[in-house]
Amino acid sequence: MSYLVACVARGIACSTIPLSTHHHGICTATNISESVIVARCGTPGFITTLAQKSDAGPITSGGMIADVVAEEGPVPFERFMELALYGEEGFFTTGKLRSDRTGDFMTSPEVSPLFGETISVYVRALHESCGDPFMVVEAGAGSGSLIKPLLAQTGLDGMAVEVSPAAREKLGEITGLSVLSDLTDLPSRFRGVVVANELLDNLPMAMAQRIDGVWRERWVGIVDGSLELVDADARSEVVDWLDRYVGEVPDGGWVEAQLEVGEWLAKISDRLTEGAILLIDYGDTAENLLPRRADGTLRTYRAHHLGPHPLDEPGATDITADVNFTAAERIAGELGFESALWRQDDFLTALGLRDRLSLMRREELALAGKDEMERMVLRTRRTEVEALLHPRGLGDFRVLELTRAVPSPLGDHNAIL
Ligand SMILES: C[S@@+](CC[C@H](N)C(=O)[O-])C[C@H]1O[C@@H](n2cnc3c(N)ncnc32)[C@H](O)[C@@H]1O
Repeated sequence: MSYLVACVARGIACSTIPLSTHHHGICTATNISESVIVARCGTPGFITTLAQKSDAGPITSGGMIADVVAEEGPVPFERFMELALYGEEGFFTTGKLRSDRTGDFMTSPEVSPLFGETISVYVRALHESCGDPFMVVEAGAGSGSLIKPLLAQTGLDGMAVEVSPAAREKLGEITGLSVLSDLTDLPSRFRGVVVANELLDNLPMAMAQRIDGVWRERWVGIVDGSLELVDADARSEVVDWLDRYVGEVPDGGWVEAQLEVGEWLAKISDRLTEGAILLIDYGDTAENLLPRRADGTLRTYRAHHLGPHPLDEPGATDITADVNFTAAERIAGELGFESALWRQDDFLTALGLRDRLSLMRREELALAGKDEMERMVLRTRRTEVEALLHPRGLGDFRVLELTRAVPSPLGDHNAIL
């Protein structure tokens, strides 16, 4: 395999990490198939050393991750992401809980317990169709802010699958919940529901770029002591995935190849005999993602803000990208699931959340001039629910509903996508 060095400007704050700035220069590596690429290229300053990076802020971690990359040679981006998020010094492995108000990002269930309560309407109806035994599973459960109200409302027991030690510790406090660290620890056959909120966007993914009408991969290597994206031949399985699921990407376009989503679905499919999977995340259909392919959708988060370039401080930032729901839906179809793709606001509305919101508004009005304290509490709760439904915010997330051997509890409601 041969490699080129892709030079990338760092740390520019915008909605996605500007990987496409490599256009400023890609140069040929002089040492082919060496584990450390010696070529450097382009405008001085594009490739910075690890020491120079400290100018932009202290390096809090990443040493061990860079060591592994140096030892293994240029690695596929998904291997880098695995190390940066889930390795020994990974973002989700070390330190605190990431997905709560004190952490690095907020998710729908962290915004309001009414998210989990609303999903419990779906789960109760599904349970009625399926009967017992029925299991509630949440994958990538974080602090438990979704499954806790869900179990409380349904009276069912549940299982949470979490790779993060800090999250598992928090989940251990929830009554009626078994906490597992791997999907393969789930029973080999079960009937029930599997919910995953903002999990798929965090599964390690390959990075590809369309160059002169062919796919190239972007791996991660060390150039002059610094982690850099390097060019590599695209592996056949990656090309196959891209050809099937991304559509006509213009030259220069960047795509996150989310092969692990399919592998994750296959593992659930092997076990779930009857029931449903709800996959909630940011992302869109392949077609709707096409306009964003010039820069791709890869980005980082830290302390509730967009973070630096993913190679800058591995282990200290979340790394994520929009989910290609076309790929997930088609793969699920091949595995035998029926599917419906929803917007989050429509899905929650179909389950009664907008009616609940109207009720909250009426209750709030009725309290005016009577109990101002209670009215303030209600107003806060109402504002949180509005955030879940906001059409340009969380309401614009997608819900992929997959059912097997049972009708959708939402019956004739129309998924609009
Ligand atoms: C963005 S957080 C979302 C947490 C929670 N679902 C929420 O909405 O607040 C993603 C979570 O998925 C977990 N995770 C990532 N990959 C996983 C996997 N393969 N199996 C189980 N958990 C995983 C991470 O540790 C992290 O807690």
